[in-house]
Amino acid sequence: MQKLQLVNPTAVSLPAVVIVLFIVTTPYRRSFFDAYSPGAFVSIPSGSRHPPATNSAPALARVPQECDIFRGEWVPDDGGALPYYTNLSCPVIQEHQNCMKYGRPDLGFLRWRWRPAGCELPRFDAAGFLDVMRDRSMAFVGDSLARNHMQSLICLLTKVEYPKDISTTQNQEFRTLHYASHNFTVSVFWSPFLVKANLSNADHGSGRLWNLYLDEPDEAWLPFVSGSDYVVISAANWFTRPSLFYESGRVVACHYCLVPGVPDLTLRHSLRVAFRTALRAVTSLPGFNGTAIVRTVSPTSHFEGGEWDKGGDCRRTRPYASNETSIAGLDLDFYTAQVEEFVTAESAVREMGSGARVMLMDTTAAMLLRPDGHPSRYGHWAHENVTLYNDCVHWCLPGPIDVWNEMLLQMLLA
Ligand SMILES: *[C@@H]1O[C@H](CO)[C@@H](O)[C@H](O)[C@H]1NC(C)=O
Ligand SMILES: *[C@@H]1O[C@H](CO)[C@@H](O)[C@H](O)[C@H]1NC(C)=O
Ligand SMILES: *[C@@H]1O[C@H](CO)[C@@H](O)[C@H](O)[C@H]1NC(C)=O
Ligand SMILES: *[C@@H]1O[C@H](CO)[C@@H](O)[C@H](O)[C@H]1NC(C)=O
Ligand SMILES: *[C@@H]1O[C@H](CO)[C@@H](O)[C@H](O)[C@H]1NC(C)=O
Ligand SMILES: *[C@@H]1O[C@H](CO)[C@@H](O)[C@H](O)[C@H]1NC(C)=O
Repeated sequence: MQKLQLVNPTAVSLPAVVIVLFIVTTPYRRSFFDAYSPGAFVSIPSGSRHPPATNSAPALARVPQECDIFRGEWVPDDGGALPYYTNLSCPVIQEHQNCMKYGRPDLGFLRWRWRPAGCELPRFDAAGFLDVMRDRSMAFVGDSLARNHMQSLICLLTKVEYPKDISTTQNQEFRTLHYASHNFTVSVFWSPFLVKANLSNADHGSGRLWNLYLDEPDEAWLPFVSGSDYVVISAANWFTRPSLFYESGRVVACHYCLVPGVPDLTLRHSLRVAFRTALRAVTSLPGFNGTAIVRTVSPTSHFEGGEWDKGGDCRRTRPYASNETSIAGLDLDFYTAQVEEFVTAESAVREMGSGARVMLMDTTAAMLLRPDGHPSRYGHWAHENVTLYNDCVHWCLPGPIDVWNEMLLQMLLA
């Protein structure tokens, strides 16, 4: 899979001038995330059914050390394995990702499994995952795709246990759940830019601008993860919004701000610096000896037949083979920046010699092949009087995103 390999940094910076010119002369295109507000975290119903906790410690299947679980193909799941969960067994499926409820007719998208090139990826083992995470904690930081990921994990774990909501805030975007039988704590922190950000009141002709303080980590999550064993960091889509970039408290550049005298360095710059800042901040938290996990971009390119707000949709019912598509455009640029910032953070951590670690959760290649796994129009009723676009960004639950947790479990075991 050469196309997903690290791009030489100089090869990236050369076309930057061309990109700047292109952006400035192209009208700003709103992003899917501007219009789509997928709603708050679904709360766990109190008194929900509690499946029996299993106490047997199963032998956990693990992939050989040399197997790259992130490169492979989707193959038919002809073993006839049932979905791990349904919208009945999992009470936290986000309404807009509850594809079964909203009548998605072709459930064939559930009958594929990810097969890495050099090994088989074991099915998710809920009891095994909880055993590995006994007395540990994991935090998910990012946007609605971080939440999508966390909800997939909770659904997968319903096989063993329903967690208790122990959040200390009413804010539904900051949830903390506890698995009593294993003392495993999982949290989600809403921080779509990872760094400090707020929406300014100023409208410079391209809408209200976001102020992104690129060198200041977002205090909405940073202090809360200092004791976490794992912090899964992701972000991408929100960087498409017109924004001003601050460093040392001063405006230094922007993305599509159209402010005279402010250079447009594009969202490629803001995404990269935000990851750099976030990774540096987590790994240098005093006493932090957990693992920061960089989850790479979930493709934004699955709309077909038009852009997201021009009738674009994702109606495929089969995955691609890896030779039928390739990563390009913004997905490639985001992916490249994330991998490069991971590499930088990894060597910084090694030099520091602290207890912190960084790992790359390289899900992009697998997800690029799953245009069939999004809610599309099955995230709401057809007759509903709401403006919801076809969703080709989030993932149905159950659905291909469950593989992220199969991969995550193997990373924990590595
Ligand atoms: C679950 O999906 C079925 C269709 O498969 C639907 O009839 C039902 O209303 C859904 N239930 C919930 C709780 O989402
Ligand atoms: C539960 O796990 C946390 C770490 O996540 C630890 O600090 C705490 O002592 C554990 N509690 C018990 C009762 O073992
Ligand atoms: C955004 O945050 C900065 C720094 O805290 C503050 O100076 C500014 O007033 C805020 N802007 C808005 C619109 O809240
Ligand atoms: C690292 O974490 C473990 C618990 O997970 C703790 O016992 C140990 O003291 C920590 N080490 C440092 C250097 O903070
Ligand atoms: C992709 O590879 C398969 C074999 O693995 C081959 O049968 C198929 O024709 C190839 N498709 C394209 C578009 O190259
Ligand atoms: C949809 O809602 C809007 C505003 O709430 C209302 O004006 C419109 O009549 C509604 N349309 C239908 C078909 O119900």
